[in-house]
Amino acid sequence: MTAEPGLPDTLRDLPAWTPGPVELADLELVLAGVYRPLTGFLGSYDTAMVIAGGRLADGTPWPVPVTLSVPKELTDQERIVLQDPEGVPVAVLKVDEAWQDPTTRDWRLAGPLEALRAPAHGPFHGLRRRPDELEPVEGNVLAVAVRDPLHRKQLGQLRQVAERLGAGSVLVLPLLGGEHDESLVRALLGVRKELPDGAQIIPVPLPARAEQGIQKERDVFLQAHVAAAYGATHLFCEHEVEDTAIPVVVPEPWAYDADVEVWRPVARIEPDHVQAELTQERLNELLDAGEPVPDWFTPPAVAAELALARPPKLSRGITVFFTGLSGSGKSTVARGLADALIERGGRTVTLLDGDVVRRMLSSGLTFSRADRDLNIRRIGFVAAEITRHGGTAICAPIAPYAATRAEVRRMVSAVGDFILVHVATPLEECERRDRKGLYAKARAGVIPEFTGISDPYEDPDDADLTLDTSRMTPDEAVAKVLDLLVDGGWVRSA
Ligand code: ADX
Repeated sequence: MTAEPGLPDTLRDLPAWTPGPVELADLELVLAGVYRPLTGFLGSYDTAMVIAGGRLADGTPWPVPVTLSVPKELTDQERIVLQDPEGVPVAVLKVDEAWQDPTTRDWRLAGPLEALRAPAHGPFHGLRRRPDELEPVEGNVLAVAVRDPLHRKQLGQLRQVAERLGAGSVLVLPLLGGEHDESLVRALLGVRKELPDGAQIIPVPLPARAEQGIQKERDVFLQAHVAAAYGATHLFCEHEVEDTAIPVVVPEPWAYDADVEVWRPVARIEPDHVQAELTQERLNELLDAGEPVPDWFTPPAVAAELALARPPKLSRGITVFFTGLSGSGKSTVARGLADALIERGGRTVTLLDGDVVRRMLSSGLTFSRADRDLNIRRIGFVAAEITRHGGTAICAPIAPYAATRAEVRRMVSAVGDFILVHVATPLEECERRDRKGLYAKARAGVIPEFTGISDPYEDPDDADLTLDTSRMTPDEAVAKVLDLLVDGGWVRSA
């Protein structure tokens, strides 16, 4: 094995920055030439033109803003090193412009990128190809870009379109950047035999840009650009979009013919033999309940991956997040819930109590807003990891700020389920209990920034359950949370 070359001396003193996941994906596609004519991150003028009209300032059609956000401190640099999340430098950005986004007020850097080394890891790395690594193909090349597995219908449609086009080659481009990238690629590898002959599967880092408010049409536009960069002449797509880099081919409608038990064009099926589609909602219900996905809908290899990506609720990871004032009873109910779940069996439980976390994960943090947010993000990070692995995380910090709670909800929901329980015991009751004597100290001004007294608590408006422990016993409160978990399907009824 040859040693990786270190960072050249000339670059060692440059400041380094780790872009976010979408920015890193963009960076990789710029460097691979997939985003040609783009050579780097866009400046303010190009970005404004792209957002307003889908064109760069020079008139070239371009669907999405390819931008890089940085902290303000980096805006006076001429060059910066961009690194991956593990701190490995991947590119140098020569800064042409530092600008502030007029809407988000984020600082951005624009300018050309120079590759330092090819990104060298990630699952299924061996399948990745740069466009210049593909053999040129004569004739039509059909591409399909997917964020979800291909089921029997799309597989049939794809074969039909490939045949009609007389495609000499078919490219299946799984678009990476979701939570279940590996499942998606495995689901495609699992149906290799049902893809048109010689189809090639090439993962491309192209996360959905829903958060940037990118509409379906612009997403398809970008997919067509990417497919064209890989040499495709046509893009298979369920949505008609015009003026794309290569023409979009919309397949004719297919359905399952229940009489002869095959998928085929609707036009060739007797109307009363057309089987109703399996809706996404129904599919989710089957997966949630751990019931088999029917074979007429998708091949078993795909069904198995669907079940891995969305496990049955009884074995799916979950975070139960309690929030409320100090002394509201969060810890007691959380502890009671953990005990009840452990007694029932079937789930592994980790309790992340507020005071315990403050001693372990967050020792040294204060009660300033910044430190409270950091504390809650740490709890959220750990809870999301537990959830990702199918466990049960029970968290019980004060978590006074709605925005930070929403951030934790987002982190966890990407990998499993999240339930927010507001322990809404009135302040007077918490203060009357004052088990730790902290309220007395806070009133006396000995403890500053005390939640509820001299620091804010934002009541949640998105709680899945609200409990007031001044009106019920701890056992009753635990029973209410358990009922919610049983009714929701996460826990078996006793
Ligand atoms: S949070 O705001 O960051 O979510 P966390 O739940 O970790 O708070 O810690 C709250 C516990 O710290 C309280 O139960 C209380 O015992 C103790 N504490 C000490 N100082 C404060 C303070 N200024 N505000 C709130 N709780 C405090």
